Amino acid sequence: MVRQQSVRNWNLSQVARVVPRISTMNFFLETLRVLVLSIYYSLEAFVKLFIPSRKKSVAGETVLITGAGSGIGRLMALEFSTMGVTLVLWDINEEGIKETARLVKEKGATDVYTYVCDCSKRDEIYKVADQVKREVGDVTILINNAGIVTGKKFMDAPDGLVEKTIDVNTMAHFWTYKSFLPAMTARNHGHLVSVASSAGLIGVNGLADYCASKFAAIGFAESVALELLDIGKDGIKTTIVCPFFINTGMFEGCNTKWPRMIPILEPHYVAKKIVNAIQTDQVYLLLPKSMYFIMGLKNILPTKLGLLLGDYLGAFHFMDAFKGRMKKD
Ligand SMILES: NC(=O)c1ccc[n+]([C@@H]2O[C@H](COP(=O)([O-])OP(=O)(O)OC[C@H]3O[C@@H](n4cnc5c(N)ncnc54)[C@H](O)[C@@H]3O)[C@@H](O)[C@H]2O)c1
Repeated sequence: MVRQQSVRNWNLSQVARVVPRISTMNFFLETLRVLVLSIYYSLEAFVKLFIPSRKKSVAGETVLITGAGSGIGRLMALEFSTMGVTLVLWDINEEGIKETARLVKEKGATDVYTYVCDCSKRDEIYKVADQVKREVGDVTILINNAGIVTGKKFMDAPDGLVEKTIDVNTMAHFWTYKSFLPAMTARNHGHLVSVASSAGLIGVNGLADYCASKFAAIGFAESVALELLDIGKDGIKTTIVCPFFINTGMFEGCNTKWPRMIPILEPHYVAKKIVNAIQTDQVYLLLPKSMYFIMGLKNILPTKLGLLLGDYLGAFHFMDAFKGRMKKD
């Protein structure tokens, strides 16, 4: 008490002498802490390169997959089908999700619910989400996977398709989070998965709207993850997935210049890697592995050198032979 009063009675010059000393001490202590933890976390990451991470059980979880009517969405549902989860499958394509439901049941899944939902429409997402909460319960693993691509040069892309791309690939994530995050936050339990793209990390010639939608999806997912950490909700895990081209038909016709270095990915492989990333609480999943290296280079190389390497890797011509789904169908 006496000490407190004497501090309160300090004049300005006394305070001015002590504050810098305290802040210098804080600076050294904080810097020391960061240095020690940096070494610890680096060693931990190095060891984890050789020792596979422990997988968490997802039995009993309710897994919602958007865009589950084909491609990676369907294959992820198949991966989950033997894990004792309740599956909630959304797609705009009714036949597609019915077929996925049939396939997952054939593999042993018992609790499977299908909902037709156009993820480009906020009201529809809210309506179907409410229906899910009433009929199935709270979603605990949310996988935002539905996606579309126009595959046209920016000036040739019709406005409506550009908007739809942003609505499905980005805005739908906002509305599904708003629908299902409150229950996860209340229990401090859940997992948010964003199936983005390597095109969300690096611009691609001929994919302006798609890249913009995926950059935004990544920025959104990263920021909400930080908000959750900040409020102590560390029981809600997050995974951001950034694959290069996958052989699902979405990017039919696209090619890679050096397939050994940056291969077109096989859909089964990608689905397995995503489910594994969820089970091991992996925050970022870049596929193939060379993408980690390329991303590192992008951020440190001089611009001209970056462009030279991009050209060498074929980045200017990935989309030259794009056919995609829409044209094929
Ligand atoms: N295929 C690739 O090369 C590739 C590469 C990187 C990232 N991705 C991303 O992976 C995800 C899955 O892609 P995929 O390759 O399995 O493609 P896909 O076309 O096989 O699957 C996409 C699914 O989303 C559904 N969908 C489309 N619009 C919808 C809407 N408005 N509402 C609800 N559902 C809708 C489709 O019906 C389809 O079932 C997408 O987000 C895609 O952007 C794909």
